[in-house]
Amino acid sequence: DQVTWTIEDSELGENPHYMLKEIFEQPEALENAMRGRFSADGSTSVFGGLNISVQDLRGMGRLMICACGTALHAGMVTEYLVERFARLPVECDHASEFRYRNTPLFAKTLFFVFSQSGETIDTLAAMREAQRKGFQVLAINNGVGSTIAREANGGIYQHAGPEIGVASTKAFTSQLIIGAMLALHLGRIRDMSFRDGTEIVSALKGVPDLVRATLKQAAHIKAIAQKYAGFNDMLFLGRLELFPIALEGALKLKEISYIHAEAYPAAEMKHGPIALINEECPSVFLVPQNEIFNKVVSSMQEIKARGGPIIAITTSDAELPEGLADDVITIPACHEAVLPIVATIPLQLFSYYVAVERGCDVDKPRNLAKSVTVE
Ligand code: G6P
Repeated sequence: DQVTWTIEDSELGENPHYMLKEIFEQPEALENAMRGRFSADGSTSVFGGLNISVQDLRGMGRLMICACGTALHAGMVTEYLVERFARLPVECDHASEFRYRNTPLFAKTLFFVFSQSGETIDTLAAMREAQRKGFQVLAINNGVGSTIAREANGGIYQHAGPEIGVASTKAFTSQLIIGAMLALHLGRIRDMSFRDGTEIVSALKGVPDLVRATLKQAAHIKAIAQKYAGFNDMLFLGRLELFPIALEGALKLKEISYIHAEAYPAAEMKHGPIALINEECPSVFLVPQNEIFNKVVSSMQEIKARGGPIIAITTSDAELPEGLADDVITIPACHEAVLPIVATIPLQLFSYYVAVERGCDVDKPRNLAKSVTVE
């Protein structure tokens, strides 16, 4: 693979911050991640660099994913999608934990690491540990020619272009779309039908436009962010494939605004975190129309009854009970393969505008580095 971006791509131009620039570059980054990667019959995805035969891929009994930080959250979404679409058991672990916990690994394990930079030492060490045990390790990576790209046995380049803001945005959604395409690919070599495959392919192709439509709500999200910028604690709640997106929403807020934020699967609230709820602790709920919509609504009611402010991120096909949320952001209704991508956009904008409102150095948050090359 060649470096396909020019120096202009890494210049700020009219943008106040790289983070905002990169948030708005996501439709193109998503297009670049998909380019040339669908089959001619429109029913599956194809990857040129996996370096593994379809027979060997079909024979895998398990997928193991290791990553750190934001990339780990992309791995967790991929876990949900691969289990759903390919019915393949998946484990996703912190690279730093995998390295030392000596996980027993089933021989037919497909091993992936996710890394924007390709230089994160914990991820590299996890990859080397798996290779030492005789596994082929594939990488989903944005840094062309990075150490991880060079040492991996194969993989998928993101082609998201340079990401300068320390808080990862476009590299994250780019990993999400590649994870969805991987789930589709693994599904189609197993039991996913042509019809289900074509439905997912068209959902994937439509995602850049859904992201563009969601980005148009920036002013509305900014107004909400300004309203909540003075709080010191926040919770992010989601379920299924949006639970890792809640984790990512909380991580973004922590990273750039220094607000204490935690994320839980919404139903887990009652097992402890609900003790934190009062008028000073807002909750951001990811509440799309799906098979457990009513369950998430009842979690919201529990928060409301205890005086907790609620921001709801919901889909256009859902009907939230009147007055339940204090503020609502509506994203387009979409296929579950792409919902995590679309739901990420308001969370990125929210944390960005909260941090700006608090006067934080968005692109260079304290104590953080773009890529952490020490253990
Ligand atoms: C650092 C960055 C995070 C990033 C993580 C993994 O901690 O501050 O934003 O998610 O490393 O980075 P990678 O380059 O491996 O995706």
